[in-house]
Amino acid sequence: MTSTNDLNTPRPPFTGYALDEDNPVLEALLAHRSVRAYKDVPIPERALGPILDAAQRAPTSSNLHSYSIVVVDDRKIRERARDLCGNQAFVAQCGVLLVFCSDISRHIHICAERGYPYRGDQINTVLVAHGDCNLACQNAAVAAQSLGYGTCMLGNVRNDPQGMSDLLGLPKYVYASVGLAIGVPAEDMGTKPRLPRSLMVSRNRYEPGPVKQALAAYDDEMRLSGCYDGRREPLNDVPPDHADPVPDEGYGWSEHSARRMGGDNQTQRRGLGEFMEGKGFSLL
Ligand SMILES: Cc1cc2nc3c(=O)[nH]c(=O)nc-3n(C[C@H](O)[C@H](O)[C@H](O)COP(=O)(O)O)c2cc1C
Repeated sequence: MTSTNDLNTPRPPFTGYALDEDNPVLEALLAHRSVRAYKDVPIPERALGPILDAAQRAPTSSNLHSYSIVVVDDRKIRERARDLCGNQAFVAQCGVLLVFCSDISRHIHICAERGYPYRGDQINTVLVAHGDCNLACQNAAVAAQSLGYGTCMLGNVRNDPQGMSDLLGLPKYVYASVGLAIGVPAEDMGTKPRLPRSLMVSRNRYEPGPVKQALAAYDDEMRLSGCYDGRREPLNDVPPDHADPVPDEGYGWSEHSARRMGGDNQTQRRGLGEFMEGKGFSLL
């Protein structure tokens, strides 16, 4: 049997799996689903260690390590974090919360120590640090899932950036970019359908794909999956006690996502840029 890596340059330890062989790595990736309800069970250090190893093993732009991780295993702090993260109950319920913080404090330190000017005050640094956070977070998620834990990422750590900063004692040059709840699952919502590949992937040159048809098909698939049952995005101008004007058969991904992108919740993080500038991250 030929391993896919034999076709390129074999480079241990990536011995690889044959294309038709069982592949636990792909199985784990393809089984991903977010979990938003957890049993009240802590994550033992024996499990946390390899999860953090995997997080730190993620590629990091220019090997700059522009992030730090705060492990929140204290229930009281997670309860406070829950309040800051849109009151999502699982933030307090989960076994542990990891907060991945964009962090340029070490770069500021080594430049100052040598008397070099710090010239990273540009938006690229924000993208680099945020990218590093997301990569480390995804590695941690896959590692945790490979151990049988459920996970859910949390952009909500940016809802109240100052509150989160105060809660975790984040100094200047450090702010929370993304969180990861990890725990023993108390639910399984199954895998969520994805947009069809014909819409998302093109070759050699960008093609928007068959937008109308593909979205209509995806709207149906998402509606039938039941993931919007009782979870509609509110409409800005319709009071909560009034009937939603869109019937069930018209409520799919397009309606849900348009409401999300056009909703009041989009104004929630408007001050984030100013906050980041205050933390020493330039948006220019
Ligand atoms: C960067 C990022 C931030 C996210 N933030 C949240 C969040 O704050 N709250 C939440 O419930 N889910 C959050 N999610 C989970 C997404 O809602 C979820 O991945 C998406 O609905 C697809 O579902 P699936 O992960 O089950 O496939 C986040 C996901 C990502 C990648």
